[in-house]
Amino acid sequence: MSQTLTAVVLAAGRGRRMRSDQPKVLHELGFRPLVGHVLEAARAAGADAAVLVLAPGMGAVAAYAEGLGLTVRVAEQEPPLGTGHAVMAARDRLPAAGDVVVVFADTPFLEGDTIARLARTRRDAGAAVAVLGMEPDEPGGYGRLVERDGRLEAIVEAAQADAATRAIGLVNSGVMAFDAARLATLLDALEPQSARDGDPEYYLTDTVAAARARGWETVVARCDPIEGLGVNDRLQLAEAEAVLQRRLRAHWLREGVTMLDPASVHLAADARFGRDVVLEPNVFIGPGVVVEDGVRIRAFSHLTTDPPKDATPLVVRKGAVIGPFARLRSGAEVGAGAHVGNFVELKNARLDAGAKANHLTYLGDCTVGRDSNVGAGTITCNYDGFAKWPTTIGREVFVGSNATLVAPLTIGDGALIGAGSWVGRDVPAGASHVARGAAEQREGGAARLARHLARRAGKDG
Ligand code: UD1
Ligand code: CA
Repeated sequence: MSQTLTAVVLAAGRGRRMRSDQPKVLHELGFRPLVGHVLEAARAAGADAAVLVLAPGMGAVAAYAEGLGLTVRVAEQEPPLGTGHAVMAARDRLPAAGDVVVVFADTPFLEGDTIARLARTRRDAGAAVAVLGMEPDEPGGYGRLVERDGRLEAIVEAAQADAATRAIGLVNSGVMAFDAARLATLLDALEPQSARDGDPEYYLTDTVAAARARGWETVVARCDPIEGLGVNDRLQLAEAEAVLQRRLRAHWLREGVTMLDPASVHLAADARFGRDVVLEPNVFIGPGVVVEDGVRIRAFSHLTTDPPKDATPLVVRKGAVIGPFARLRSGAEVGAGAHVGNFVELKNARLDAGAKANHLTYLGDCTVGRDSNVGAGTITCNYDGFAKWPTTIGREVFVGSNATLVAPLTIGDGALIGAGSWVGRDVPAGASHVARGAAEQREGGAARLARHLARRAGKDG
């Protein structure tokens, strides 16, 4: 039987330093909740299941986690009496054998490979506990890994450490792997540590000394300090976002995306690009966006779906050209070689191959057939104040500038809509449709009108 790996994700801490009405772990990095990054790492490590330790009232976190397709079990911890206490709360959801890896929900850069490597290090050594250690520039508030004769003896929290211990540069990233069969014994051995203020705490880190006291092996694996970076406040969240953005851009540059000014491009963690995509400066790619090969997104374009309200995917197909200053929203689909130009907004709107909407247009709840042209200033009036209605435009249709298309509406293939028209009923294929107020022109009318207006303003003496 293959070894099972269960990830225990600790997220019940109060996260007060965020100063937020929302649980800390739902704050987003690259438009993905912090806890989502960690669960993604757990899945990448090959975890069979994740046990999420939450405080009461964190239903939104549980709902998010369940949507990820990993088997997630929830354990409640109340009150939060420390990391050891949090794992005790998860106890009856843990397997009797195999690997249990404890991770913190606020360390978004932890990688799946690292979790898997830590679990392997523990198994290979036959150890009860393996700790993921790191050597950051500033060991600051991290727990210190105390070694003797090359073997991990204990973890000492910074607050309890003497000067010599504080001088140790190797610290606890927070990730710990356990032999599931021996974890219960280690949890039973934890003694409460008296905190300076507030309730006593049970430290998960004390399992190391407890294992050594029983003559059980303990080991350390190391990671890049960035993987242990914890997000505790909004400053750290902003710093973490900057790190993530650099990584995402580097990834997509290596995958064949050109960026004229990478530092000005903002990307969601789930963005997907084909080859030979060009992103001009100041392009924003939010969640739920797929961009196929050869697409050019010109400067200052904004593409994003709007989860959780509307996460309908947004797709830009091969060779399309977007922007500058275009806005694409949930459910936008731009066909191969189609053009969406400046100040054009698409929401739940499909442009088929070769179609064009180049200037100052709103297309909502709408489809535009192949090679049709939507003139400048055209608006689909999709909302009547009560409900949204669709507009269907066929192939090779010519919509003149400044047309007002009142939905529900169907315009047949090859039809022609005159500039400035409003269209309130269906237009058959091949028909022309022109609807304008009758023009009125009068000889000398401009001067007469000017005199009238001046008199009315009381300025003619
Ligand atoms: C912890 C470690 C420290 C390590 C550091 C790495 C302990 C005692 N200390 O300290 O050695 O260097 O992380 O970042 O483990 N949580 C709960 N319930 C609780 C308390 C915490 O679920 O009762 C969760 C928090 O939501 C958080 C994680 O556990 O996700 C870590 O808690 P935190 O208080 O931030 O631990 P640190 O003091 O940073
Ligand atoms: Ca922390």
